Amino acid sequence: MNQPAAQLLSPFLSGTLNCPNRVVLAPMTRNRAGVERVPNALMATYYAQRATGGLLVTESIDVAPEAIGYPGTPGLYTPAMVSGWAAVVDAVRQAQPVRAPFFAQLFHTGRVSHPSFRADRSPGVAPSAIAADVQLYTFEGLVPAAVPTELTHAGIRTTIDHYVTAALGALQAGFDGVEINAGNGYLVHQFLADGTNHRLDPYGGTTANRVRFAVELVEAVAGAVGASRVGLRISPRHTTNGVSDSDPMTTFTALTRAISGRGLAYLHVIEPASDPQVTGALRGLFDGPLVVNDGYDLVSGESAIREGRADLVAYGRAFLANPDLPRRFSEGAMLNEADPSTFYGGDHTGYTTYPALG
Ligand SMILES: Cc1cc2nc3c(=O)[nH]c(=O)nc-3n(C[C@H](O)[C@H](O)[C@H](O)COP(=O)(O)O)c2cc1C
Repeated sequence: MNQPAAQLLSPFLSGTLNCPNRVVLAPMTRNRAGVERVPNALMATYYAQRATGGLLVTESIDVAPEAIGYPGTPGLYTPAMVSGWAAVVDAVRQAQPVRAPFFAQLFHTGRVSHPSFRADRSPGVAPSAIAADVQLYTFEGLVPAAVPTELTHAGIRTTIDHYVTAALGALQAGFDGVEINAGNGYLVHQFLADGTNHRLDPYGGTTANRVRFAVELVEAVAGAVGASRVGLRISPRHTTNGVSDSDPMTTFTALTRAISGRGLAYLHVIEPASDPQVTGALRGLFDGPLVVNDGYDLVSGESAIREGRADLVAYGRAFLANPDLPRRFSEGAMLNEADPSTFYGGDHTGYTTYPALG
């Protein structure tokens, strides 16, 4: 029989990545961690509801106070945060009929930040002191992003150390690995893109220099937790948060070549399903599993795997609104629609209230 989701629902095994299906829960910031930024019971319920994905990735997690750029995002830099995540991991494990890998997405907003997020009122840090042309929701209302402080070499090392500490905390909490968020215009992307990186030292200028921070970061985190526990997420053509690159194909080709051959868990690329031109080029350059994302549905996800363009497909809004997405794909069931008004912050409404099939 011709099962429309046969490929998406087939297992995927590569190294330590043992996925019961190929329907990935994409990382999604939901701003429900409160002022303490400690994962809570409501968050555990949310992730447990979505436990049947073949690979689960958490929302972006702040690696340190310097990394914060939004209210209510969870952290992974205090013992209470590690314990909070451990309870989330436990809830997911208990809800999983078959164990699937659960990765913590680590991020640092860089220049997409504001002094009101820190006790010392320091602005964000970035490769160059260029403010992001964005408005941010803060505890002081909607404000323009602050001019960031240019990172020194010592600051770069400290920042990498924050990621390493957070990655070790993630393993302590029971996660199977970490996904480094190098997309969406946040810190790693700010180093990669020539519009945000105007440095004249070994971390800026040439393509090789602009990818240096990302490569050193991957090396350090892989060195601490093992390469097979590290995924990397990129969004080559995004202009999110004012990031811009004059030649993303060259930049991301160089990055992919540099991180290939190291045994990483996976490369996760965000690019519209309708036009995945950079992803297509990277597929042949990366020697590990490829996760694709952005605008995929059952049909386009299934054909991406069938045609060998991807190993796994990540679903954001569809998984947000359909906690049992793999089952719905399997049964060809109708999908609930996501309500954007409850995406960022609030209570359980629009978070844990989307119904599963009866
Ligand atoms: C509410 C919401 C929050 C998101 N937060 C994150 C995030 O924390 N980290 C990240 O890498 N991408 C984030 N994204 C992007 C999604 O992972 C995904 O790339 C995007 O939704 C496109 O996939 P889709 O068409 O399947 O929804 C977010 C998207 C949404 C809708």
